[in-house]
Amino acid sequence: MKLGRLNHVGVATPSIEKSITLYRDMLGATKIHEPFDLPPQGVRVCFVDTANSQIELIEPLGADSPIVKFLEKNPLGGQHHVCFEVPDIHAAKAEFEANGARALGEPRSGAHGTLIFFVHPQDMGGVLTEIMETPKAHT
Ligand code: CO
Repeated sequence: MKLGRLNHVGVATPSIEKSITLYRDMLGATKIHEPFDLPPQGVRVCFVDTANSQIELIEPLGADSPIVKFLEKNPLGGQHHVCFEVPDIHAAKAEFEANGARALGEPRSGAHGTLIFFVHPQDMGGVLTEIMETPKAHT
């Protein structure tokens, strides 16, 4: 496995607008991207830049969003996943599976427009882990 940079930490929130206020006014974030809908993943997304990475704020998009249950358990929101870059998404998926870890579905287009998949948290020490093919601009 070729581990790339930590692309982002995913933070689930019941309200991107409220979270933006926190990250801007409490943490001093100055680069907050425009929120957008990501229907294939059932979430609305907003990236907040940090000096070395990003926070991905995710809010449910529709009642069957995959983060609805998470927010029922964590009504304030909370840390949802971490995302690491890899140079080759298909090679990475094959390596996880060869090591007995479960990929949740096939690679699909993620919030940065490159292919992503998630690894089952039970196979990653309890951490829902997103694997993303490195965006071209970062190479
Ligand atoms: Co993510």
